[in-house]
Amino acid sequence: MNFETLEFKREGNIGILTINRPKALNALNAQVIQDLKSFLTQVKSEKGLRALILTGSGEKAFVAGADIKEMESISAADAKQFSENGQIVFQEIEDLPIPTIAAVNGFALGGGLELAMACDFIVATKTAKLGLPEVSLGLIPGYGGTQRLARYCGKGVARMMTLTGDVFTADQCAIWGLVTMVTDPTELIPTCLKLAASISKRSPLGVALAKKSINQGYDLDQTAGMSLEAKLFAEVFASADKKEGVAAFLEKRAPNFND
Ligand code: CAA
Repeated sequence: MNFETLEFKREGNIGILTINRPKALNALNAQVIQDLKSFLTQVKSEKGLRALILTGSGEKAFVAGADIKEMESISAADAKQFSENGQIVFQEIEDLPIPTIAAVNGFALGGGLELAMACDFIVATKTAKLGLPEVSLGLIPGYGGTQRLARYCGKGVARMMTLTGDVFTADQCAIWGLVTMVTDPTELIPTCLKLAASISKRSPLGVALAKKSINQGYDLDQTAGMSLEAKLFAEVFASADKKEGVAAFLEKRAPNFND
């Protein structure tokens, strides 16, 4: 895979995707959004990939937001399309069957935090800074921030972070449930690789359907969510993974799950 603004590498069955515009603190310009779109098409046919880590290039930023220089020339008439275009790409990330981990290595602001929240969970360094500063620019979040942040942290924290436009430490965001784990900077990628390694040992179908059940069930009422879970439970029950996982347990050996 070859992209102007992204780097993709594999460590066995784990992928690492790096947003690579360090001079602009990895800001999301149209090229990054286009490259992410192409990446998402291609990654679906990557053989044996079990988890994906997303991070930013350099020491300073995960992603410092949508590209402000580019936004200067976007007309009000084009703004809805601009927002929807990013939302569609981020939704595709959220909907990937393989788990995604945001490895936040510095500033995750505006569109950067919105990208991190489209991942399944966020691991951040102690020095990372997170926020939705759009109101300082006379804007509001446009890549899903007003929707996903409330689902992560509840409406009170979401309103406080979004309406102040302030930037917060990873430790503070962990207290609110936005950040799942906080590490030393040197431990960020090893920690994410360790989490991804655990995921990659599990049943790929089980992982994909558990993710689907949480994500799709979250916006349903509890009864409808239970019904979705029972349907997916029956689906996984009919699979080769269930047969192998249960047999391996009974035979006291490690399971061998295939894609
Ligand atoms: N877009 C475009 N370029 C950006 C950028 C962005 N979001 N963030 C940083 N850069 C560029 C700077 O312009 C600068 O480029 P030059 O060297 O060419 O001047 C370079 O990256 C380094 O940035 P700074 O010199 O500003 O670095 P700093 O250490 O002084 O400050 C920062 C770092 C606090 C992150 C600051 O860069 C900043 O506030 N960036 C903007 C953050 C922001 O407002 N993000 C939200 C964008 S709007 C959005 O995302 C809308 C949406 O929901 C879709």
